[in-house]
Parts: sequence; C-alpha cells; structure tokens
Amino acid sequence: MNVEATTDSPLATGADTIVVGVFEGEDVAHDLPQGELSALLASGEARRKFKRLAVTHFESKRVILVGLGARGEFGGERARIAAGVAHRQARELGASTLCWEVPHHVSNEIVEGLVHGTLLHAYRFERYKRKEDSRQVGTLLVSAHHDVSEPVRTAAILTGAQNRARDLGNTPANDLPPAALADYAEELASRVGLRHTVLEEGAIREQGMGAFAAVAQGSDQTARLIRLDYDGGADSRTPLVALIGKAVTFDSGGISLKPAGTMHEMKFDMCGGAAVIEAIAALAELRAPVRVMGLIGATENLPSGHAVKPGDIVRALDGTTIEVNNTDAEGRLVLADCVSYARREGAERMVDVATLTGGIVIALGSTYAGLMSNDDTWASAVEASARRTGELVWRMPLHHEYADMIKGRYAQIVNSTTKREATALTAGEFLHHFAGEVPWAHLDIAGTAFDVRRPYFADRGATGFGVRLLVELAISALARS
Ligand code: BES
Ligand code: MN
Ligand code: ZN
Repeated sequence: MNVEATTDSPLATGADTIVVGVFEGEDVAHDLPQGELSALLASGEARRKFKRLAVTHFESKRVILVGLGARGEFGGERARIAAGVAHRQARELGASTLCWEVPHHVSNEIVEGLVHGTLLHAYRFERYKRKEDSRQVGTLLVSAHHDVSEPVRTAAILTGAQNRARDLGNTPANDLPPAALADYAEELASRVGLRHTVLEEGAIREQGMGAFAAVAQGSDQTARLIRLDYDGGADSRTPLVALIGKAVTFDSGGISLKPAGTMHEMKFDMCGGAAVIEAIAALAELRAPVRVMGLIGATENLPSGHAVKPGDIVRALDGTTIEVNNTDAEGRLVLADCVSYARREGAERMVDVATLTGGIVIALGSTYAGLMSNDDTWASAVEASARRTGELVWRMPLHHEYADMIKGRYAQIVNSTTKREATALTAGEFLHHFAGEVPWAHLDIAGTAFDVRRPYFADRGATGFGVRLLVELAISALARS
C-alpha cells in the first residue's frame, strides 16, 4: 500500500473513500457541504462511541464516520484499532484510495497509530492461495492541517517491517529453513545497507558454540548464526545494543517429541529472530543514529539418529557444561551461545526475543509478553518502549531460588527442570547465567507472536510482535547515554 501525508482537505485529494473520526462530546471538525455528517450523528445512525461505524456518500465518494470515544482515552492503541475497523469497512466498500482525516489536536503517536492500524489490518498472507478477486486499498492518504509527513513516513517504515516479519513467521518451515532465512536476511541487509555475516553450522561448532550446535545436529537442514550490524554514525558514547533472536525454524521438540495436536504451530518458533532482522532493517531505513548488533540463531529442532539425546552433556561457548535433560527446551540452548557471543563482541546492552516457553502463555496469554531482566534501568527502558508501541510487556521475577532449580547433578546446569514449576522463570534464569552482569532483558513472546485477537490483526498467524518495540528501545538507549 502506498502511504502519503497531505495537507489537502480529504475531499480535495481525489480519494474515493474518506474516514472521519468523531470524539464523544464533540462535533465533526469538517462536515460535508450540506451538513450530512452532523445529520447522521443527530439521527443516531452514526455514534461517537468507540469503534462505531456509519457510512454515507457524497459526490460518488464513500464517507466512513468512526466513533473515537472519549478524547482523553484516545491514544496510539485506540488509533490502531479505529484504523483497523475503518479499513475493514473501506475494503468491504471496495475502496481503492483511502483518506484519513486526522482529528484536530492529536499527537504524532495517534497519527502513527492510524497508519499502523490500517497497514496491519490490510495485511494478508496469501502466498499459497489461489488469487481470488481480492480488491485492495492501494493508497492511504493521511490528511491534516499541519505537515504530518514525518510520523507518516516513520509509521509506514515500521509497519512495513512488522508485516515482513509476519511473512517470515507465516512461511512454513519447508520453505524457510535456516539457510533460506539467512539468505533472506543477507538480501534485506544489502538492500537497506547493513553489514552482514553468516556463520554456517561447521563454524558454529568449531567456534565452541556447543549448546547451539547440539540443537542443530539432529536436522539435515544446516544451522546458521546470522549477524547484522548497524552503525548509524552515533558517537562512541552510544552504547552498543545487541538484539538477539531465537529462530528455530521448526521445533518438533527433538527426541523429547511434542504431541501432534499443535505441533504445526512450531513453524512460528522463529518469530523472535524475524523480529530482530526486521527491527534492524527498520533502524537502517530510518537512519536512526544508533549502534546495534543483531544475532539470530537459526536452526531446526528435529529427532534423528544424529539428534542430541536427553542426558547428553554439552559445552557452551563460555565453557558452561549443560545437561540436556529435555531436548524440547532447545531455545535457551541456542540463545545461551548467542548471548555469550554478543558479550564477546562487546555488547553493552542486550535484549533477547524468543518464543521460549508454554509457561508464559499460561501466565500472560497473548496480551503481554513476559519480561525478565537483571537490570532495573534497562528493564524500565523496555517497559517504556512497550507502552509507547502498544506491544505490551509484563515484568516477571528472577530469583536465586529459580536459579537453584537449574543447578545440575552431572553438569553445571540443566536445560530443564523435572517439576513443571515456573518454567518461564527458570528459562529466564538459564539465560541470566550467560548474560552475567551485562544489562540484559529477555522477552518471552510465545503468547504474543502468533494467533492474537486484536481488531487490527485481521489475518491470524504471525503478529510481528517486537519489531516496533525493539526499534523504539534502540532509539531510547541513545537518549539515555
Ligand atoms: N518453542 C517452545 C515454546 C512455545 C510453546 C512457543 C508454545 C510457542 C507456543 C519451546 O521450545 C518449548 O518447547 N518449551 C518447553 C520447555 C520445557 C520442555 C522446559 C515448554 O515451555 O513446554
Ligand atoms: Mn521446544
Ligand atoms: Zn522452541
């Protein structure tokens, strides 16, 4: 979809469909010449209540009136929702150029939200579907009295990146094995101007990433460690932020095989890695003055005659010995070595993003991602970014008693506890072991990465969770230094 800002009034833009929002207790800012919109409100057909829709026509244009609710309750998230429901109506009406009239006196966050909501709702994953006559909105115009081209451009870049992350998540494992993900990342990196290097499976093993390699050894598809570096010309005081993503392109559980029922969902087990790839690409597109290193651990987790077995002991990059008691707790093995690698490469802040545990889904559902961190300041920065983007996080505790639960009998630590208690938190403590004292945050996105019920996620499946949050976080780390 084309996205453009304009200071022309919606009727003057030539758009075939116009969206006008109206707050409770307020009148429409610009009515049609005969006062049709006020009349529609007066008759009760249109309402100011949040998300209510009404449609009228004017000179062969469609005009959609959307209730925005109370002005005081309207923020970025409500803007995304309002734009999502308006887009649904516009598409049903066969709109091809849609123009949003931005309400008066609203912040850039709301302008951005209108763009996000429209583009997220318009997203469809149809690569494998027969082409139906799917009429689509081709252009979104954002009309305001003042120049909104900056927030419109930013939002279009970010949502473009988020929707690409959704494509990666939705693509099945047979068409996106680790090598294909690495190829994609390298191509994208060249396009947006990022340095990129890829370590192949042999190099992963030879460099001593025994935990990562143990997961990879069961599959015929070879693993990749994808590294993307972006230096936005920031000065040397700008902290180097490592964004680390779990990209298990398919997680069968390995020898500790998962039950068949929902195993197909484990093609989504690379959504953390996808978020990292697209967040860094977006930072480059935005030319943000930040320093970021992306590390994406890409592998399949399959059972075979070569697979790692329960009880096997492996040595991680930092020398830690790990007893692999459950081959389905593979994400933390991959991430452990990525975290050590990031530290070795000079990361001053780290954040990892991973569909790590079923436990976080039980605790928080698909509304909040779980946040664990060894640093209150860095955790607050993550929380603030999450509030701004609406990609919500809830901080969960780390505690030495959780750390005690992963102490090993035959090796230093185990990758899984026998009791199914606090699984999201013992997973967090496992990663904490490798992060050590470097400010680090862990986002468990198992609940928020796919199948989220939100009005602007019309297409179930991957959500691209984390892309906007990571971009916001990288930029906020700059302000802090
Ligand atoms: N990828 C899964 C976690 C997951 C579950 C993601 C549901 C998305 C939705 C992860 O690798 C896993 O299997 N975790 C296990 C760990 C357990 C064996 C300690 C889990 O949480 O059950
Ligand atoms: Mn698993
Ligand atoms: Zn997994």
